[in-house]
Amino acid sequence: MDNEKILVLDFGGQYNQLIARRVRECNVYCEVKPYNMPLDKIKEFNPKGIIFTGGPNSVYGEDSPKVDKEIFNLGIPVLGICYGCQFMAYSLGGEVLHAPKSEYGKTLVNVNKDSLLFKDCNKETQVWMSHTDYVSKVPSGFTITGYTNTCPVAAMENKEAKLYAVQFHPEVMHSVEGMTMLKAFVYDVCGCGGDWRMSDFAKQTIEAIRAKVGSGKVLCALSGGVDSSVAAVLLSKAVGTQLTCVFVDHGLLRKNEGDEVEAVFGPKGPYKLNFVRVNAKDRFYAKLAGVTEPERKRKIIGEEFIRVFEEEAKKIGSVDYLVQGTIYPDVIESGLGKSATIKSHHNVGGLPSVVDFKEIIEPLRLLFKDEVRRVGLELGIPEYLVYRQPFPGPGLGIRIIGEVTEEKVKIVQDADYIYREEIAKAGVDKSCHLGQYFAALTNMRSVGVMGDGRTYDYAIALRAVETSDFMTADWARIPYDVLDIISRRIVNEVSGVNRVLLDCTSKPPATIEFE
Ligand code: XMP
Repeated sequence: MDNEKILVLDFGGQYNQLIARRVRECNVYCEVKPYNMPLDKIKEFNPKGIIFTGGPNSVYGEDSPKVDKEIFNLGIPVLGICYGCQFMAYSLGGEVLHAPKSEYGKTLVNVNKDSLLFKDCNKETQVWMSHTDYVSKVPSGFTITGYTNTCPVAAMENKEAKLYAVQFHPEVMHSVEGMTMLKAFVYDVCGCGGDWRMSDFAKQTIEAIRAKVGSGKVLCALSGGVDSSVAAVLLSKAVGTQLTCVFVDHGLLRKNEGDEVEAVFGPKGPYKLNFVRVNAKDRFYAKLAGVTEPERKRKIIGEEFIRVFEEEAKKIGSVDYLVQGTIYPDVIESGLGKSATIKSHHNVGGLPSVVDFKEIIEPLRLLFKDEVRRVGLELGIPEYLVYRQPFPGPGLGIRIIGEVTEEKVKIVQDADYIYREEIAKAGVDKSCHLGQYFAALTNMRSVGVMGDGRTYDYAIALRAVETSDFMTADWARIPYDVLDIISRRIVNEVSGVNRVLLDCTSKPPATIEFE
């Protein structure tokens, strides 16, 4: 490819893909590679600039990640972030010290507006810090371009050598002018013009899939959600009828969802896909009987999905590849690499260790949800499908706290249906910018009074969040009068429910789903 490229070298930081995403937002192609990518490969990659990510290590740690110092002599601009900043200082002869206390959170930094990096920023600007070590002395040839009350070198640079570094994280949203700084690095320091678009992603991915799959057969795990729908359409553009989409109705779908998915992707829909619907409710319920532990439930559902796909693949014969619509937050929250496991997303950490396919293809693995939506629009998928709210692969299985039973599934389906109907009727999904909203069945039963009698029934929890990347989310303020209608209808119309609760927790510290 002949697009301009930025290379992000990954030192193990939490935000490495977020950096890549911010660069893509500047319309510049970007890839994240391990920190130990050999120098000759870096030269071959021919980046216009290199970004070092943060990381959990100290430069003095025995096995802390290090890069050959020669990298600073390639004439390619480098931006070091957090650990990347400390590493740059340390390897070029500066000094890094261990602070007695970590600095974590929002901080005001004073920046030098003569620096190319900060020329469009305010003199005092809010950034996000997350570090213990800090640069106490810059290497020779460097000047300090930013400081805070506690951090003497919040930014440094050697303009001639095109080496820049910041102790804070410009890539996170809390760094108010972080995007301005990254833009300045990409455009003004590296000289990029911004020649990459999301449509290029679709084109390049289609070509890459075609080259990989050749004349082989492919099975796509289609749930009807945004991610797997985009993956399926991408694949069908790449390999046409070599693709079969398998939609598993595991009995944990929202009310009417199975038929809705079939209407769009099945034989009567606008896409001419080979579509197979497998009604597998009974086998999923049987496997889940008596299981209450959330991770166990996720693993069981993840494994059962794969077993169904394997069986379907055998019926088709000679299927080498399984395609999944995994996206980046699924990967990071499932704790691959060095990050902690939050929950095993069924299509990543929920996968069994032995899978009977030659390879799993995940074309969206590096994208965030809103980027996937942009790819969907590029592929011509209608807006109402692209902007559907996400629905997790394990479905209602993770919206029923505790054991999953057919009775509980029916309760949560009916409550969720009413919730969605009333939200749509009131137009709240648009006015409150709801990213996702659903009903969950708490495992709690409590006493109520209905008619003249005592009830001892379940409580439904209503969840609604505003988010664009689903990594963080704020709870949505749905108007009380709408909540009132929803609550009354649920208690009156759904048998087995006598109480409705509102979840007013953001992510973090909660997650969006309940399990
Ligand atoms: P959490 O609950 O982790 O959810 O804050 C973040 C987003 O991911 C969705 N989610 C999943 N999607 N498989 C999926 O395809 C899964 O196992 C899974 N778990 C959570 C969730 O609905 C939200 O949009």
